[in-house]
Amino acid sequence: MSAVVDIPEEQHPDRVRLRFLQSGEDRAVKEARVLAGTTIFDAASWNGVAIDSTCGGHGTCKKCKVKVVAGNAPISPVDPRAFTIEELKNGWRLACRANTQEDLTVEVPPLQTRPKAALAGVGRHVILRPAVQKRYVELEEPTLDDQRSDLERLLDAMDDVEPRVPLEVVRTLGGTLRESDWKVTAVLADDLLVEVEPGDTSGSRHAIAFDLGTTTVVATLLDLETGLPKAVRSILNAQQPFGADVISRISAIMMDDDALERLQRHAHETLQQLTGEVCAEADVDPLEIYEIVVTGNQTMIQIALGIDPEPLSMAPFTVVTRRMPEATATDFGVAVHRRAPAVTFPALGAYVGPDIVAGILATGITLDRRVRLFIDVGTNSEIVLGSSARTLATAAPAGPAFEAAQIRCGMRAADGAIEGVKIVDGEVELAVIGDVAPLGLCGSGLVDAVAELVGAGMLDHSGRFILDTSQRFGKIGEENVFYLSDDVYLSQRDVRELQFAKASIATGWNLLCRDLGIEPAEIAQVLLGGSFGSYLSAASAVKIGLVPKLPLTRIVSAGNVAGEGAKIAALSVTERAAANAVLDEVEYVELSGRPDFNDLFVDQLAFPG
Ligand code: FES
Repeated sequence: MSAVVDIPEEQHPDRVRLRFLQSGEDRAVKEARVLAGTTIFDAASWNGVAIDSTCGGHGTCKKCKVKVVAGNAPISPVDPRAFTIEELKNGWRLACRANTQEDLTVEVPPLQTRPKAALAGVGRHVILRPAVQKRYVELEEPTLDDQRSDLERLLDAMDDVEPRVPLEVVRTLGGTLRESDWKVTAVLADDLLVEVEPGDTSGSRHAIAFDLGTTTVVATLLDLETGLPKAVRSILNAQQPFGADVISRISAIMMDDDALERLQRHAHETLQQLTGEVCAEADVDPLEIYEIVVTGNQTMIQIALGIDPEPLSMAPFTVVTRRMPEATATDFGVAVHRRAPAVTFPALGAYVGPDIVAGILATGITLDRRVRLFIDVGTNSEIVLGSSARTLATAAPAGPAFEAAQIRCGMRAADGAIEGVKIVDGEVELAVIGDVAPLGLCGSGLVDAVAELVGAGMLDHSGRFILDTSQRFGKIGEENVFYLSDDVYLSQRDVRELQFAKASIATGWNLLCRDLGIEPAEIAQVLLGGSFGSYLSAASAVKIGLVPKLPLTRIVSAGNVAGEGAKIAALSVTERAAANAVLDEVEYVELSGRPDFNDLFVDQLAFPG
């Protein structure tokens, strides 16, 4: 049975249908539906149709020639420089300049060059098109006959761009040009002239992608020439002493006037420490980092930028802005090139923030015809369901079951944590992180333990221990517990915590299925992401009802999709635009206050087994 579900198209009248006829060896035909206004080049690259390019879609190489054979694509100002009048009449266009306004059929000639691309996210094939560009130019020295200004001389040599020029660049321009014998490299980040460097430095450009998580912060230093990561480091967020989750950090800010500043400083210190580490590991001068991309939940981003996050924590849960204004690396306390921009992601809501938008980018949910479900499992679990036809997102407050603090023997996924549990013929087998005795239970171990107890008939579907089924049951105080080892146990209350968490998440995706008009069985793929979700066993997630009952091959671990989304945005301005478009493409669904929430929640409390 096909898992592809078609959603009626009239729901998105602003989309256009493209047919790509690929000539050459395979002569394949591909169809895609994209938002009107998307360039043919972008639509093709999102859908795996390779079009020639050496400039990455910047309109300068004139290699992305395609022929529009049905429908009309307006002629761009650059087209007459690439084609004869006859060719233009016959429908030839530069794909990167051709906006789609209506349904089109496009003939794509065979590739002459191999586009540079990188694999990132969940199997995403990203055509390299970084915002950071370098142009090496050799300028004519001024003469009495040619008294153009230094800046005119430089900009004339790069006639396809009209950059914004900061005063600081002008301040040093004259000296740099003369000292370097008029041979310089201009560094651009989008339309900003970041620097003019002496000599030819065009082979070296880098960016850092950060995932500023509540618990863990990850930095990836990217070589923008190859698209490959040169160094990846992660450390604990230095804000930890203020509490494990976003609510405790916000509470600290509400109770203490200085806390916002201190938390901001800790965020900056964490990002800066990682910057030092990745630059040292990759042997890259921090001054050669010309851009940073930062994602994270909305609370982390607001705190890092010194914005009071208090309104995020109470109804009606408003963000300060859905799209952050332009920021620089300095605003995040990151000492790289001092004019390096800091790119951030938009937020759909207080709890479906920039990290989830980055996740949507990395999973490609809004680009795929198949209906897929993405769950970022955590204290606040974000759920995204949909396809290129329509996508919905929501946040389900799962409570602290997946955090160590609320589970009696809970701990982070560190050495000594039980991360996997199996019960075979009544015998318990544990997978413990590190070569040490078990010290506690982390999120994946908790889910496994409960799933295995249900499977072994030691826990009933309502979540109650069946005490006479094993010698491992005991009592601590008034509470029944199941001993996983001599010192680590699972309490009846722990089971309840997990039950509420998974019911909340399951209610979330059930409601999104309802709103999308599909049955859970029609979901083609479930992606489990985030620091908890990525480590959950698919079988256990199904057994406890955290995810829909689907063949296990359809349930995959998606890894740190927020971090992957940040990398993708650093590698491609097209993808970055796609992330920004998520605000218009994805519908946010508010669960609180829905009349159907409670009944469904009660239904979902049971363990299906
Ligand atoms: S991709 Fe280079 S001009 Fe279109």
